[in-house]
Amino acid sequence: MGDSGREDCAPALQEVRADDAAPRARRIRRGAAVQGGDAIAPPPGDGMVYLVGAGPGDPELLTLKAARLLQQADVCVYDHLVSNDVLGLVRRGAELIYAGKEKSNHALPQADINALLVALARKGKRVLRLKGGDPFIFGRGGEEMQFLAEHGVPFEVVPGVTSASGASAYGGIPLTHRDHAQACVFVTGHRKNGTCDLDWPMLARPRQTVVFYMGLGQIEEICERLKAHGLPGDWPAAAVERATTAKQRVVTGTLTTLPGRAAHAGLRAPALIIVGEVVKLRAELGWFDSDVERLITHAAPAHA
Ligand SMILES: C[S@@+](CC[C@H](N)C(=O)[O-])C[C@H]1O[C@@H](n2cnc3c(N)ncnc32)[C@H](O)[C@@H]1O
Repeated sequence: MGDSGREDCAPALQEVRADDAAPRARRIRRGAAVQGGDAIAPPPGDGMVYLVGAGPGDPELLTLKAARLLQQADVCVYDHLVSNDVLGLVRRGAELIYAGKEKSNHALPQADINALLVALARKGKRVLRLKGGDPFIFGRGGEEMQFLAEHGVPFEVVPGVTSASGASAYGGIPLTHRDHAQACVFVTGHRKNGTCDLDWPMLARPRQTVVFYMGLGQIEEICERLKAHGLPGDWPAAAVERATTAKQRVVTGTLTTLPGRAAHAGLRAPALIIVGEVVKLRAELGWFDSDVERLITHAAPAHA
């Protein structure tokens, strides 16, 4: 497991980069063939890339289609958010290539991942590109598929349960509720340029739920900005770490208290921040006791 795929494909990666100079129209034309257009079909035996959402962690949240493709893959290129339980379901004998993508620790730069997918497909492989959650929600799946389309590589996309849905369901926090939230916004707390420069007036509205992906490192700034743009200090907020897994932890509070509580609990990525009145429902609807939460509850003195 690991780098072997990278070495095998090194010459092919160079070919792909050189191929970038090929006329765009020709590349799009081949890519279009698999989408049912009347363009030239790719030759039989060509490889294929399946961009598959692995969900937030619990392997039972995989779609049936994802589970089937896991069993049929020749090679699986996976990100760090894919849980070990899900990886354990990849066909025995399939090559596993770690593509990383932890914040500031990219095992493979994005350009190399794109090139690797093309190179593997051109070798005739069934390539499983496995991503945490849903590939088109803060997963760069769109960028990777654009690259494949431009290079005439056939692909399919399989959606996954995004971590916001997982955290909501397993955290007992409905993202919408007729009494509390008529809208739900998914937003990244970490912009490409490293800033937290978001549309704060839009995010600080009542009667909606806001879910911040990749926001734990900026939790203090996020809460402060929401207050500065009009939400009250006692507005409910929660942070959910490793949602849907046996290690899930949920910390609830308000915009004022959540940053301190999350720090005190030592929450670490991957975690989501959920802001909105629906967070209050967890007291009534929380049903999933992860192993960690069970341990904490049972270890705590009765009066705590
Ligand atoms: C690069 S984004 C990928 C999101 C993914 N495509 C999805 O649909 O969930 C990574 C962020 O997703 C969130 N995340 C992913 N898995 C999570 C989990 N099991 N529990 C909590 N947050 C998670 C965290 O905010 C993390 O920083």
